[in-house]
Amino acid sequence: MEIFRNKAALVAFVERNREMGKVIGFAPTMGALHEGHIALYESASAENDLIISSIFVNPTQFNNPEDLTKYPRTIEADLEKLQDSGVVHAVYLPEAVDIYPEGIKSKHYSFDGLEDQMEGASRPGHFDGVGTVVEELLRQVQPDNAYFGEKDYQQLAIVKNLVKQKNLPVTVKGIPTQRLENGLARSSRNSRLTPEQREAATVLYETLLKVNDWFRVVSVPEINNRVTEIFNSTPGMVMEYFIIADEETLKETDFFYKDRSYRAFLVVFVGNVRLIDNLHLD
Ligand code: PAJ
Repeated sequence: MEIFRNKAALVAFVERNREMGKVIGFAPTMGALHEGHIALYESASAENDLIISSIFVNPTQFNNPEDLTKYPRTIEADLEKLQDSGVVHAVYLPEAVDIYPEGIKSKHYSFDGLEDQMEGASRPGHFDGVGTVVEELLRQVQPDNAYFGEKDYQQLAIVKNLVKQKNLPVTVKGIPTQRLENGLARSSRNSRLTPEQREAATVLYETLLKVNDWFRVVSVPEINNRVTEIFNSTPGMVMEYFIIADEETLKETDFFYKDRSYRAFLVVFVGNVRLIDNLHLD
């Protein structure tokens, strides 16, 4: 596995491989890698000749400075996991100057309203930061296919929108959320939970499964009440939001229209750790 620590080295490698006609698959990360990340590379491996990873803790997408400083940095273990996966050929570890040559600040984007709710509303500027780093990485890595997890479903939708509006020659693919055996979505933040909190946090996925049982049977306002009640009566947890949204527009719905698809989105603080999950309803 090759490691590139600056833009010039990465771009030279990419150009060489493109000239050879290699089909390139890419998935960016912020490190603290787990099996959810590795699943992106395994999927990519089936449909590309060359698999590229990147690790960069992107400062502009953190609206809370404490969240940025607390973000786990485990670069040696990450490189080992990528190597052990046996499917990743190269990893890009840019310096901040490689992504932000003119100083660390976001560009401003409009994503057709996809950014208005949920993470966009809760974390002002977050998706401008994501858009800025993802656009820059896609321009440098020049992949044919780029992989993003459904775990961050709103991010996946926004990246698809970004690629379309900027006419970037890449196909964006979504990969299903990888979970622990107890259903908890794999996340870098799980390492900040105590063993008891980790067990208790299974209530997030259990709640989403209940919502799926209630889908098109119980009214949306009544589902909202039931979910709020579950977290009100769970000690140590505070629900930040629960929304059932149209899967395409990501707008909150208060009614299930027959010809539309829906997805439930949930954010809960377990202690001081903010956990996010979502589920397609069917
Ligand atoms: P990060 O949180 O490191 O996630 C990198 C990719 O892994 C994202 O596409 C995310 O959705 C995916 N992922 C994380 N946990 C997953 C799980 N349990 N199952 C499936 N996929 C999972 O998302 C980011 O970094 C950043 O915003 C980034 C896109 C790299 C831009 O900085």
